[in-house]
Amino acid sequence: MTAPTVLSIEGLSIRFGGLTAVEDLTFQVREGEVLTLIGPNGAGKTSAFNAITGYIQPSAGDIVYRGECLVGMKPNQIAARGVVRTFQKTSVFSGLTMFENVLTGLHLRGKQHPLAIMLGLPSVRRDEERLRAEAWEILKLVGIEARAGEQASALPYGELRLLEVAVALAAKPTLLLLDEPVSGMNPTETADFMTLIGRIRALGITILLVEHDMKMVMGISDRIVCLNQGRIIADAPPAEIQKDPEVIRAYLGERYVRARG
Ligand SMILES: Nc1ncnc2c1ncn2[C@@H]1O[C@H](COP(=O)(O)OP(=O)(O)OP(=O)(O)O)[C@@H](O)[C@H]1O
Ligand SMILES: [Mg+2]
Repeated sequence: MTAPTVLSIEGLSIRFGGLTAVEDLTFQVREGEVLTLIGPNGAGKTSAFNAITGYIQPSAGDIVYRGECLVGMKPNQIAARGVVRTFQKTSVFSGLTMFENVLTGLHLRGKQHPLAIMLGLPSVRRDEERLRAEAWEILKLVGIEARAGEQASALPYGELRLLEVAVALAAKPTLLLLDEPVSGMNPTETADFMTLIGRIRALGITILLVEHDMKMVMGISDRIVCLNQGRIIADAPPAEIQKDPEVIRAYLGERYVRARG
């Protein structure tokens, strides 16, 4: 039985002045799957992410998440509906520790009234304890709890990327969008990250990924959508994508032969 569709992209087009970054993009993401967007540099992958998460407005088309149209909503409104992303370049508070970064993320989802927080009511203290426990759980899940007290600015690149995922998890996603999460990571870190994606998915979180690391993409994706110059050229499981002549011509070619070798 196929899982229900949670995200439906219908005829999405994104134009920047005279440049068409995405043209008539249509695809669906099903509950619980890992769907990966691949394609050459400039194919429109990040632009599609930006439109889904409200950072840019599409020129045409529909973006529907669990029955609700996201077009026109602001990023925070979309995140509040469970659609949460990380960025191609890292974006955490460098002056805060890992723990504080995650705690801040959890607070943004908090439901306490500012006045209750100011007055230090018992309910606030209980909430605070619960949030701190939750922050630890997230750091443990991501595997960075040993360095929880270190400032983000002091972290090596790979752990900074993991922290970014932890902060995204603090926003309680039901759909998590990851834009090139392992770029700049070494092979060991990349392998660990693949395990992490398995753990995130086991929590019931659906994952939409953009990634150029083909070993990882072929290893963890249920389905792959390949873009070329803003258009879809294939939408299929990894085994079929690897054999698709158009995907090989436009993108995989040398890259995949290298990744396998
Ligand atoms: N804010 C913007 N203003 C103008 N042009 C943009 C903007 N964002 C992206 N573009 C252009 O849109 C096209 C698609 O870019 P996009 O960043 O979506 O590609 P991508 O598939 O994510 O590439 P990469 O794999 O290199 O990250 C490119 O030609 C890019 O230069
Ligand atoms: Mg990109």
